[in-house]
Amino acid sequence: MQVVGQTIVVLGTGGTIAGTSSSAANHIAYQAAQVGVADLLRSVPGLNESVGKSVETEQVAQVDSKDMDFEIWKRLADRCQHHLDRPSVKGVVITHGTDTLEETAWFLHEVLSCSKPVVLTCAMRPATALTPDGPQNLLDAVSLAQTADVRGVFAVAAGEVHGARLVQKVHPYRVNAFASGDSGPMGWIEEGTVRWAQNRLPARDEKARVAMNSIANAAAVPRVEILLSHAGASGALVDTLVRDGVQGVVVACTGNGTIHHALEAALLRAQTAGVRVVRATRCTGGQVLPKPGDLFADSHGLSPVKARIALMLDLLAAP
Ligand code: SIN
Repeated sequence: MQVVGQTIVVLGTGGTIAGTSSSAANHIAYQAAQVGVADLLRSVPGLNESVGKSVETEQVAQVDSKDMDFEIWKRLADRCQHHLDRPSVKGVVITHGTDTLEETAWFLHEVLSCSKPVVLTCAMRPATALTPDGPQNLLDAVSLAQTADVRGVFAVAAGEVHGARLVQKVHPYRVNAFASGDSGPMGWIEEGTVRWAQNRLPARDEKARVAMNSIANAAAVPRVEILLSHAGASGALVDTLVRDGVQGVVVACTGNGTIHHALEAALLRAQTAGVRVVRATRCTGGQVLPKPGDLFADSHGLSPVKARIALMLDLLAAP
């Protein structure tokens, strides 16, 4: 049975994402626009089983996008509008060459009546490359098209979400070839989920009231320390802090929340003894993405110093 409003339509127009080369190592001498859009999707684990079910495909054109013209734009806009108007369609994805993607994005922004997402995606490496970027870009574009409360025309490439107004190809070779000027990307696709750059905080009136009360009634501020995981780290500081009565520890972790094994062992002992442990990343961008089996909580994107404040207030509210 068709689930209303869940279908994603992928429209193919060509580009390097559909390109082929006789050598897997060659990223520049290839023929763009060779592989059909249905075949592109079939090569993406996570999408291949949806083709013909919740994902439909349609080949609107098959061109190197340097040769994009008004006729193709008209046909593309027609097909987009047709699918956007279908109640069963959640969003439209367009596979496109990188060279004029920004122009098509703006054209569609100008002509479509669109209360749903239209996501253009592409690749810098042909489908036959050793590590093609197209399949992940396609998966990310579908993820954005499936996201609730998203409308308008976007471009997705190299894990970044750009808007039609500012997106621009800024590099002729590297995989992250797109930028949005000073304002940067609108967001990032991480494990199938969008993290928006303008991270608007949810209203927290009730939480703030509880926090204000706990501050007023607190006899002392809970002791929360920040520790850094690094090469050659040890658990000595954790053991000392636990003996000293620490109530919480924020760890500035490596990468996606990983911790040196010696420090991690000491933190597990501390956690078992009742100390709250929270992981933030020591990287200056991004945030720790939680996964099943994590031993410690994460900071929900807060930096180590802000995670310390949040943990102090949590401990005050619920010691
Ligand atoms: C094209 O724009 O169709 C070819 C170049 C590319 O997709 O990177």
